[in-house]
Amino acid sequence: MKLLVIGSGGREHALVWKLAQSPHLTHLWCAPGNAGIAAERLVHNQSVVECVPLTAEDLPRLLAFAQEHHADLTVVGPDHPLAMGIVDLFQSHGLRIWGPNRKAAQFESSKVFAQSFLERHGIPTAPAGTFTDPALASRFAASLGGRCAVKADGLALGKGVIICRDMAQADRAIEDILVRKTFGAAGDQLVIQELLQGMELSLHALCDGVTAHLFPTSQDHKRALDDDQGPNTGGMGAYSPTPFLTESELNHVRQVILDPWLQGCAADGIDYRGLLYPGIMLTAAGPKVLEFNARFGDPETQVYLTRLENDLVELLEACVNGTLDRVALQWSQTASVCVIMASGGYPGSYARGKIISGLAEASQLRNTKVFHAGTARQGDRIVTSGGRVLGVTAWAADLPSARTAAYRAVDQIKFEDACFRRDIASKAL
Ligand code: AMP
Ligand code: GLY
Repeated sequence: MKLLVIGSGGREHALVWKLAQSPHLTHLWCAPGNAGIAAERLVHNQSVVECVPLTAEDLPRLLAFAQEHHADLTVVGPDHPLAMGIVDLFQSHGLRIWGPNRKAAQFESSKVFAQSFLERHGIPTAPAGTFTDPALASRFAASLGGRCAVKADGLALGKGVIICRDMAQADRAIEDILVRKTFGAAGDQLVIQELLQGMELSLHALCDGVTAHLFPTSQDHKRALDDDQGPNTGGMGAYSPTPFLTESELNHVRQVILDPWLQGCAADGIDYRGLLYPGIMLTAAGPKVLEFNARFGDPETQVYLTRLENDLVELLEACVNGTLDRVALQWSQTASVCVIMASGGYPGSYARGKIISGLAEASQLRNTKVFHAGTARQGDRIVTSGGRVLGVTAWAADLPSARTAAYRAVDQIKFEDACFRRDIASKAL
């Protein structure tokens, strides 16, 4: 089989690394990929993974590439091409592609769509309202005492959610989104949710339109600094499993969130094939959905795929073919920890082109994998080229050992102004 993976982050490196282990693959392209992806080889025939200089949003060229090179399956990593309808486009040309179609991807691309789905199908979520009028939005925020999450409807590079603790902050957020249009058309509508208290977890489920298989739990660390301080980021580290849900509690989550979600999709004519990633809060009143993503999490993918024992090509094929009911997910009994090394200044502005050293030393360590995100090759050197640079991942029999191993690898790697959290997974210990 010949596969095309779309994307360039740590998530896509983890997908490529795992897919490359499949005996089914004879060729793998990644558009646009990164320096780490370009260094991967297929286990089956040792052929190198080929990076193709096409961006994830360049739908016409991606389509032409897949047609010309007879890709048997295209795997979409990031949210944007899904929201743009890449799946519908490929399918209309008879190509096989993994990921939700445009209608299904609205779970992530429209907060208004997701909120109304949750309410319509009785899935536990925060009390919320949807608004286009700033005065009505402000009145609703006031009814919550100003303690609310103000969310631009559309995709906003992960910055469209503003957490407010008083009315001054809420009014500023409403004004920014609806009046000043900080997020452009993504802010034509907004959702205001009551601020929930509790432990936040990531759920992942593979879906084929009818069947959904839930992964074990994982937890991301969204704030830039230790002890959950500093600004929100794309994610500074993750680990799996978490100790916060027992098997029976996870079953409860399946019953109150995943099952009604599947029934809701059937009732609404949504054919969801791909990965559903609900962000949930474990509140005193039970688990509640904060948001949906329509793709694998980053850095959750790095910890999940280092624990997954199935052939990933077979799983993704089963999603596309509607045969997920015939496979069971298999997880190793290990724990996995991923520490993100980022450029100084991230999530604000940062420099690029810093030389990264120690990658070879870190790659010698057992049960350790350094996934690349914002990296590029410059001659014989690897340099930084993005905010999140590396996802240093290690797995071991238990969480403390996995964590120690991940930080041992982090300590081998150096680049100017590197920053990373020292407390990944510490909530669980
Ligand atoms: P979202 O993109 O909707 O997940 O929001 C980004 C982050 O904002 C989440 O990961 C949470 O940490 C936080 N957040 C979103 N909604 C709420 C809420 N209703 N209550 C508390 N925190 C929230
Ligand atoms: N882990 C956060 C995200 O993928 O959106």
